[in-house]
Amino acid sequence: LSADVLICGAGPAGLVLGNMLRAEGIRCLIVERQSRAHVEQRARAGFLAANSVRILTENGLADGLHANGLTHDTCAFRGDHGEFELKYSGLGRGEMHTVYPQQDLVRDLVKEFLDRGGEILFSTEVSEIDAEGASLLLGDGSRLTGQFVAGCDGQHGVSRRAVPARVYQRDHGISWFALLAEAGPSVSAVLYAMHPNGFAGHMARNATITRYYLQVPKDFDPRSWPDERIWDELRLRMRTDQYGPLRTGRFVERRIVHMTSHVMDPIQHASLFLAGDAASLISPSAAKGANLALMAAETLAKALAGQINLGDSVPLKSYSAEVLPRIWRAQEFSHWMINLLHSPSGNDDDAVFLRSLQRARLESLRDSRAHQDHFAENYVGI
Ligand code: APR
Repeated sequence: LSADVLICGAGPAGLVLGNMLRAEGIRCLIVERQSRAHVEQRARAGFLAANSVRILTENGLADGLHANGLTHDTCAFRGDHGEFELKYSGLGRGEMHTVYPQQDLVRDLVKEFLDRGGEILFSTEVSEIDAEGASLLLGDGSRLTGQFVAGCDGQHGVSRRAVPARVYQRDHGISWFALLAEAGPSVSAVLYAMHPNGFAGHMARNATITRYYLQVPKDFDPRSWPDERIWDELRLRMRTDQYGPLRTGRFVERRIVHMTSHVMDPIQHASLFLAGDAASLISPSAAKGANLALMAAETLAKALAGQINLGDSVPLKSYSAEVLPRIWRAQEFSHWMINLLHSPSGNDDDAVFLRSLQRARLESLRDSRAHQDHFAENYVGI
């Protein structure tokens, strides 16, 4: 086995990178800890920004997405202020989301990468990366050496440890109970509901699956509530007595997501380059994670192709400096979304102060066209 570029991790970042490198004739090998079946069935994100759809389309990776993805262009905010909708395809740059489950995208990308002559070692763990020597130490003690290594192994991967960088971390102190229900959407829009009990979210996936979120205490046990208790809480926070019922179904995923962020600086060292969740983790409040992964993968693919095929070292040297400002823009918006969607309960001055700010933020978004344009640009953009 030999390759110019060794890619650690077959998530969206590693697979888009691999496909773009193969299109440039560059030999590359992906090493993935999980089996092929596992990565092709792992339900994760689903909202693709316009820039992500562009990257996939321009690189011949969007057939499945165009055939089966659904476009979304409206979100709604519900709370004690009432309810308002923002049709963001008519705001800002006029962009929309495409909803396409990440496991379907991963399946398409794996197939295309193999068709393009790429190699993937599934069920193979990388235990250590040597950034200076461009090599991967595998779980069985063997070693792979290339010219460059791409660390696309997500937030718990090993590649982050091989980059001597500062890591800026933040725990936003908010946790979501993330649910996937076998139920069609109850409203067509993405719905953000604010309630004294906490935030609740509704995101239509397709005709039979809907994502729900409930803000919960940090130590909440996802098995502690029976289904009916969850539906009751969703109904209460979404004020269904006022706005109409929810369609219910079996929960096929229950997981706790903590709102945490980290950004590494720099995201490259010697011959190792990080992309996706390995480089920065973003809270899911604005659904930007997969989109940042694709943005970095595209930038890295062009820089590596420039170096390997044309001998141009400039884009690769400035990879980190090129990508980090865009990561911070997304972090800033996600942080703003966290403050838009959550406020403390209780009646002390501090809680009432923060709740009043939240309400003012929502009213500004409801009433100001300039604010709506800014929101739309950042909500769908990267
Ligand atoms: N050796 C080999 N593979 C590894 C290792 C390791 N030591 N550690 C992790 N991996 C693999 C994981 O099994 C996973 O398939 O790396 C892959 C990383 O993929 P993702 O976590 O999907 O990360 P990324 O490609 O950066 O995409 C980020 O995807 O799931 C979403 O919320 C996430 O939206 C974000 C986006």
